[in-house]
Order: sequence, then structure tokens, then C-alpha cells
Amino acid sequence: MFGTAKQWAIAAYKAAMSGIVGGNLASLSFLRHPRSMVAYWQHCMFTWQLASGNGLPQVQLHDLLPVEEITDVTILPTSGNFIPWDSSFAKDAMYLSLICRAIHAKQVFEIGTLYGYTAFLLALNTSESARIFTLDIPADAGLALNATISDVATRIANYKANQLIFQGSPVEGKITVLKGDSANFDFSRWYGQIDVFFIDGSHSYEYVKSDTEHALKCCHSGSVILWHDYGRWGVNGVSKYLHKLSQQFPTLSRLPGSSMAVLRVP
Ligand SMILES: C[S@@+](CC[C@H](N)C(=O)[O-])C[C@H]1O[C@@H](n2cnc3c(N)ncnc32)[C@H](O)[C@@H]1O
Repeated sequence: MFGTAKQWAIAAYKAAMSGIVGGNLASLSFLRHPRSMVAYWQHCMFTWQLASGNGLPQVQLHDLLPVEEITDVTILPTSGNFIPWDSSFAKDAMYLSLICRAIHAKQVFEIGTLYGYTAFLLALNTSESARIFTLDIPADAGLALNATISDVATRIANYKANQLIFQGSPVEGKITVLKGDSANFDFSRWYGQIDVFFIDGSHSYEYVKSDTEHALKCCHSGSVILWHDYGRWGVNGVSKYLHKLSQQFPTLSRLPGSSMAVLRVP
């Protein structure tokens, strides 16, 4: 339930490495708050990777999609599960909204609802007739594949969330909440139908791979697939899997300043 010994060892190793490589004198001000200190170190590593250009190539959104014509984007205050001082989360939200608008998305699929923050955002940035499908695992379901220890923590937060933030809003009717484990959920109804597919469920290598394979079937040429948490330090299989996937899809890129990886499906 709380992660395997191997996952804890990896988490401890990554925390130590980010402290050694990404830590600095300023972080000593967090001595009394070890969690904040590790979060800060991990953010330093994330920023270092962005600045160094390591990993996926970066693409400016305007080189990928016609965003110049967009005059209107709706943004929500960042949700409680986002780190308030880390602006990369706000950029993630902005990119998600801009992409939905740029491609005039009619059908959007999200894996990972949590409190419904990004589902709400997707609904606010699509036309009235668009439909948003958001999938999350039921509280009592076992997992078909390996998950990470941070996924276990998010699932616990999910059990406690008894309300989705879009409930009662004017766009609630656009959003269909689905329940199931993404690894064995039946996606066939959406094959070839989805314009934007957002992957933000479990972050293990196995789940990101499985979710991506489902996403590719649900998309069509010109669709956009987005992965959240690319490049974030911690127990996270997103980067490892996407580096492998980029051999098959050389245009797979990251959006500058954010943790969004993006693929325009060929
Ligand atoms: C990082 S949160 C999603 C946050 C959300 N997209 C947002 O920003 O508002 C990850 C969510 O994925 C869900 N999840 C984890 N494993 C899953 C699985 N195998 N299938 C479906 N959902 C899963 C968790 O329950 C959690 O709610």
C-alpha cells in the first residue's frame, strides 16, 4: 500500500542526489522544514534540467500550433495539490488551456481526475458542444500495474476528496466522470475520436506506458497528447518512458518552463 522497499530506496536516493547536486546555501533556511527543503531541491533539479536542455527537445507552443489567434483563455486559481510557489504548475495549466483552444478540441480525454481541477480547466477552454471525459480509479480498487509511492499518496488524497470542483458550475454538463483503472479500462468507444488526450494518472513507468498506448489508439492524426510531470524529480517514470518513446516519435517535445511533454500525433 505504501510503496515497496525498492521505491522508498529510490525516493531516498533521489532526495539525497537532489540535495547534493541541486541544493544550495539558500536551502539551509528550510532546515526546520525538511519536506520544504526536499521540494526546493527537487525544484532546483527540475529547473536545472530545463536550463541545461537535457532530455526532450523544447518546442515553443507557437511553433507547434496556431496560438497567435487566441485572444481569450480561462484560468482558475491553482488547486490545493499544486505547490503554490512553483510557477511551472501555472504554466502547465496555461499550456493545457491554450492547446484546447488552438485546436478547437471537441473531445478531450483525461486520465487522473483528483479534485477535477484540470477537467474544469479543459471544460472552460473548449466550446459549449465539446465533451470532456475524465477517468480516475475507484477508492477501493486494486492496481493492475506497479505504481509509485507518490501515486499512493495522491490516491489517499483522492479518497478524501468528496467533491469535484466543477460541480455546480455552468460547464459541469460537459464533463463525464469515469471510474476504472486506466490499465484495464475499455477505451474502445473513444478510438480515433479524441482531439486532446491528457495523461496525469499514475506516474510509474508501467502505467505511463500503458496510458500512452491507450491514448495513441484514442487519438487521430493531428490530435495532441500531453503528459504531466515530465522532468519532475522524485519517484516518477514519466521521463524515463518518454525518453524511450521519443525514439519512435522524434517530434515528442517539452513545453518551455513547464512539466508538460507534448506530441502532435503524426
Ligand atoms: C496527479 S492526480 C491528477 C490531478 C488532476 N489531473 C489535476 O491536476 O487536477 C493523479 C490522479 O490519478 C489517479 N490515478 C492513479 N492511478 C490511476 C489509475 N491506475 N487509473 C486511473 N486513475 C488513476 C489518482 O487517483 C489521482 O486522482
